Amino acid sequence: MDDVFEKRLPKPEDLNAMTEECLKAAFAGESQAAEKYMVYAEQADEEGFPNVATLFRAISFAESRHARNHLRVMKGINSTADNLAAAFAGESFEIDEMYPAYGEIAKAQQNTQASRSIRYAVKAEMDHKSMYSEARDEALDGKDIAAQPVSVCLVCGHTAIGDVPDKCPVCAAAKEYYRTF
Ligand SMILES: [Fe+2]
Ligand SMILES: [Fe+2]
Repeated sequence: MDDVFEKRLPKPEDLNAMTEECLKAAFAGESQAAEKYMVYAEQADEEGFPNVATLFRAISFAESRHARNHLRVMKGINSTADNLAAAFAGESFEIDEMYPAYGEIAKAQQNTQASRSIRYAVKAEMDHKSMYSEARDEALDGKDIAAQPVSVCLVCGHTAIGDVPDKCPVCAAAKEYYRTF
């Protein structure tokens, strides 16, 4: 189903640099809108506006389709081994460059909530990086990773493969706060 858009593309095309920059910006914007609308939907539900929540969820899905279309046209979707390499590179950038710099700014400006939000993210990215690295090694051999539950702490995003810890090692949330995939 996800390939419906691709099947309708007239033919693969080489993007001009400026068009590619536009699509990158649009991909970022649409992705952000999709996430924001999902959070707005939860808020609407909590405030007793279930129909507004439905509207937010549906429009979030539409923005997500736009983001995917942009990504596909940018040739940002490749083989799983390549996608794992791209995901690994993204996590590495966040760990090595982005979050250390952002963290220093937040610290210098004494924004403790921002510091915590950044610390939660960077801790999880480290786990994600090694998970993607191991998965890529398997994919390059044509193998899938072992079937194991992957669980995420709803508070901080800590990610665990296999058993769920009794207490989140990053934010100390209890086991019940994990969502398992
Ligand atoms: Fe990550
Ligand atoms: Fe946590």
